[in-house]
Formats: sequence, C-alpha cells, structure tokens
Amino acid sequence: MATGSSIRIAPSILSADFANLEAELAKIADADLAHVDVMDNHFVPNLTLGLPVVERLVQTSPLPIDAHLMIEDPDRWAPGYAEAGAASVTFHAEAAMAPVRLARELRKTGARAGLAVRPATPLEPFLSMLGEFDLLLVMTVEPGFGGQAFLEACLAKVRTARAAISAAGGDVWLQVDGGVSADTIAACAEAGADTFVAGSAVYGAGNAADSIATLRKLAAEHSC
Ligand code: DX5
Ligand code: ZN
Repeated sequence: MATGSSIRIAPSILSADFANLEAELAKIADADLAHVDVMDNHFVPNLTLGLPVVERLVQTSPLPIDAHLMIEDPDRWAPGYAEAGAASVTFHAEAAMAPVRLARELRKTGARAGLAVRPATPLEPFLSMLGEFDLLLVMTVEPGFGGQAFLEACLAKVRTARAAISAAGGDVWLQVDGGVSADTIAACAEAGADTFVAGSAVYGAGNAADSIATLRKLAAEHSC
C-alpha cells in the first residue's frame, strides 16, 4: 500500500473470478483499495453481488473495501454497507432522494461518504454540497459493465471537480472509474483525479501486481 502518497489505485473485482474472490483479492495486495461494484439490475442493466458478499469481503480483504453502489434507493440500502465495514460507500447522485442526509448517515459509521455521477449527469448541482462528501466519483463509462471504452468527454468534469475540491479545501478524493488503463490514466491524473479504479486493466492483465505498479507510476508522473 502506498502510504504517504496521494495516488490511490483501486482495482475493481468486477473483472475478477467470482468463484475465488479471496485469492483474487490477494493478487492486488499492492493496491490501496479493493473496489467492489454492487449492481441491482435496476439502476444498471446488470446484477453482481450484495450485502452478504460485501460483509465477507470486508472480513477477508487485506485492503479497505471501496463499495460502489449502482443501485436504486441507496437512501435505504447504502448505510448497511457502511455498517458492514466498507471503508468508503459511494452512491449515485441520480438515485439518491436525500444525498446530504445519506452522506451524513454514512459518515456517522466512520465510512467515507462518496457521491458518483454518470457521464451525462452535470456536477454543478452538487458542488455546493462537497463539504458533505469524502469522495467524488466521476464515471468515465456508463456504469454497468467492465471492459468498456474510456469516455474522453468526461475529463472536463474531472477538471471541474478538481477546481471545486481545491477551492473548497477539504479532503475529498476524486475518483475515476471506467476504461482506466495504462493508455488513459495519465489524462485522468492530469485532469486532477487522485483515485483510480481499474478492472480489466488489472485483472485482465497477465500479472495484476505489475499492472498496479505501472498504473501507479503513470498516475504519479502525471498528477497535477
Ligand atoms: C462499471 C464499474 C467499474 C468497472 C470498471 O460500471 O463501476 O468499476 O469494473 O471496469 P473497467 O476498468 O474494465 O472499465
Ligand atoms: Zn465501479
């Protein structure tokens, strides 16, 4: 784990072997967070795993669990993931009824509260609420599946988010998720991201540890 660095690499286990998650987590011990994609087949057209599995991942993982909830009604379901011990719980702005109330509820458990936006969702309505969050996730693909092509157009939002976070002065992690690879991570870092989710670029590669090291180096070289 990179202590003292402001770069965080968060491999997504969506591209891992779901029948061997303990072994798959061991492969990414050099990363900073294990990113876990929870999908409910309503908010996105895909179904992955839910709270009972995340509870066990928290107990088993050598890394803190970064839960990304692509679900409807996070107001009801997200607190359970924080109570289960996820280090960060990120819900979608498009799905939450009361994002500030929910963020406060998550923080009460000691978890980092994260807010995610889909590619077509503007950030502006949420910037005044930045102080309520510990993590802002700018999706760089449409959520739902791993292995999609990176959407360059989302980089403008990463720049906007970085400027707002710098102006607000808090400790808000700026995460990008979707199509992040050795080809795209430099542009993300230059735009101001500091927390990088990568699924297929880590688990689809021959050696996960080598991929993590490459991503970390590129991000550090290009971080703003
Ligand atoms: C997509 C998920 C991502 C996904 C990324 O909806 O939120 O975390 O695993 O996969 P890659 O890195 O392959 O685009
Ligand atoms: Zn994700």
